Amino acid sequence: MRQQQRGVTIWLTGFSGAGKTTICQFVEEKLQAQGYKVEVLDGDVMRQNLCNQLGFSKEDREENIRRIGFVAHLLTKNDVIVLVSVISPYRHIRQQMRQLIGNFIEVYVNAPLEVCERRDVKGLYKKARTGEIKCFTGIDDPYEVPLHPEVECTTERESIVQSANKVLNKLEELGYID
Ligand code: PPS
Ligand code: MG
Repeated sequence: MRQQQRGVTIWLTGFSGAGKTTICQFVEEKLQAQGYKVEVLDGDVMRQNLCNQLGFSKEDREENIRRIGFVAHLLTKNDVIVLVSVISPYRHIRQQMRQLIGNFIEVYVNAPLEVCERRDVKGLYKKARTGEIKCFTGIDDPYEVPLHPEVECTTERESIVQSANKVLNKLEELGYID
């Protein structure tokens, strides 16, 4: 365990299947191996507990992000390195979270919709196309691309290791890790 560490939230945004969760897991392992206190707040997981009952309407997504962002804020204040992986499709809410949390690194996990749809890891895109799932991000629900993310991972062209290293390098550059 490190004696000293500064809290920060690394906020990964992007389409379903872009690689947010995978990058987070990799970065988490690397940081833990170096003795840092890390917590991951993943949309899929949070929606099973703190955010259950919430759906995918604009209002519910905003409420989801507010709850997750609040937890990230508390942890960051207590010097934890927090990895948040949520689609968070609305720019203004991401901006609000940046203001709330302060020490905030936005990571745009950028993979074209066609690529995410081709991967279709959970079979959700297929269901969205057939109309079995409504309001699916990128299909019949919006995604507002980050304008000035601190990091952009183009997972179509990069390996997980390369994407994770971009995040780790940014943490180092900003003095959160050594
Ligand atoms: S949001 O928009 O930030 O509130 O979404 P998030 O909490 O990250 O939840 C996204 C995960 O929920 C699954 N899922 C959907 N995603 C988008 N649109 C719809 N309609 C939907 N329905 C279910 C999916 O597993 C998402 O996980 P990821 O990891 O992004 O693939
Ligand atoms: Mg995920």
